[in-house]
Amino acid sequence: MLPTLLPYRSAEIHSLKTPHSGDAAFVLIRAAVALDQAAITRLVQGERLNPNGLAWQNFIVAVVGGAVVGAVQMRQHDDDSLELGSLVVHREHRRRGIAGRLITVLLNLHAGQVHVITHRKNAVHYRRWSFRPIALGLAAHAVQRNYCLGQLAALISLVRGRWPRRLMILRRG
Ligand SMILES: CC(C)(COP(=O)(O)OP(=O)(O)OC[C@H]1O[C@@H](n2cnc3c(N)ncnc32)[C@H](O)[C@@H]1OP(=O)(O)O)[C@@H](O)C(=O)NCCC(=O)NCCS
Repeated sequence: MLPTLLPYRSAEIHSLKTPHSGDAAFVLIRAAVALDQAAITRLVQGERLNPNGLAWQNFIVAVVGGAVVGAVQMRQHDDDSLELGSLVVHREHRRRGIAGRLITVLLNLHAGQVHVITHRKNAVHYRRWSFRPIALGLAAHAVQRNYCLGQLAALISLVRGRWPRRLMILRRG
């Protein structure tokens, strides 16, 4: 079953247009719209992130000069658990704080418990939002399922000669 789509109130997010210090370009963080779907899919698939469940309705995006350069989503699973996922920023726009801004805006819209499945080496970046590692058995069932699918994808990578990414489940709240 597809996760329930979250109705973001765009007005809340549009007000977060912020200039970047020392940078002429503005980074607009807003709710995704249907026209963003192709850009979201391209960004996520370009980084070999989970290619499933990429409906634009769950995403917020970062826009520079009219182009979508970053994205993140909140998956709402059928067991009502929430999982932040599909975090990606275009290579040319990295290290400007866009990922951090996307995460902050998304979490401001979702109080309560949120999971993240991430590469072990990235877990440290989520501490500032109070995410902590948890054991697989403590995660919501839908998140456990996604974690296992991620591990399966890692095994397939190994068979194809690519070094797999080691995953970890984090939770806040
Ligand atoms: C991870 C990523 C989204 C960070 O985007 P960004 O806009 O450059 O991040 P910020 O500018 O907010 O943060 C800067 C720093 O924190 C790191 N960072 C911040 N949030 C991160 C996160 N959630 N996961 C990993 N690294 C993160 C950045 O790599 C960078 O580290 P550095 O300064 O040591 O190089 C980007 O590098 C990317 O798209 N990578 C490929 C996809 C990916 O790995 N997604 C994360 C899946 S968990």
